[in-house]
Amino acid sequence: MNREKLPNHIAIVMDGNGRWAKNRSLPRLAGHNAGMMALKEIVKRTSTLGVKYLTVYAFSTENWKRPETEVGGIFNLLVHYVDKELEELNQNNVKVRIIGDYSKLPKKAIQKIEEALAKTCDNTGLQFNIALNYGSRDEIVRATRLIANKVANNELKPEDINQSIFEEHLFTRGIPDPDLVIRTSGEKRMSNFLLWQSAYSEFVFTETLWPDFTPECLEDAIKEYQRRVRRFGGLK
Ligand code: IPE
Ligand code: IPE
Ligand code: MG
Repeated sequence: MNREKLPNHIAIVMDGNGRWAKNRSLPRLAGHNAGMMALKEIVKRTSTLGVKYLTVYAFSTENWKRPETEVGGIFNLLVHYVDKELEELNQNNVKVRIIGDYSKLPKKAIQKIEEALAKTCDNTGLQFNIALNYGSRDEIVRATRLIANKVANNELKPEDINQSIFEEHLFTRGIPDPDLVIRTSGEKRMSNFLLWQSAYSEFVFTETLWPDFTPECLEDAIKEYQRRVRRFGGLK
């Protein structure tokens, strides 16, 4: 891996926890738990490599369709993860940020999230963005509503709306677009993740289930990224 040509922003669809558990005849939540442990190692490696932004898809706007016990279990795991890891994240200078409307989460999860945000807000190392109750369509509609309100209040003129104004109203405001998007578990779809932001991202799909995704797998994905030629519509 070429340490000089690291992606500035890596985004990951952490998929395959359920299948990982099923393969072991374990309950789905055991898969989510194993997924949290995998995440912990990925955050560490990303941070030591010197990647500036990591965004992980933890819960989508569509994941509410799952049984209540699974949904509740995922948020309990989140609380547990923050409880256990916040100190170390902070020591490693990691800054936590949430994308998505997390006000819809259980109260306990909101409290933990806000604790993590407050504790790490001045950190200058890896920016770790967790997508919670996140969906791109929801995000784009929300941005449109925010902009429409500004127009209605004469704070903004329709002719002044451009791509950068639009981006300022997305949950990802201020975060550069992902260079590399990884999806585990063999599915080859976006599932409503960063649709606007990934217009020119490089995609790496791997069969590995998320709980089995190690820092070495991450480095393999980065190597593949480094072999790609990015043209952004121009000529090389
Ligand atoms: C991804 O794993 C985690 C979440 C969506 C919260 P899944 O739970 O989707 O695992 P599979 O796709 O059923 O294997
Ligand atoms: C995408 O995985 C969402 C997260 C990883 C949080 P899903 O498992 O929900 O996606 P689909 O349903 O297979 O498209
Ligand atoms: Mg899945």
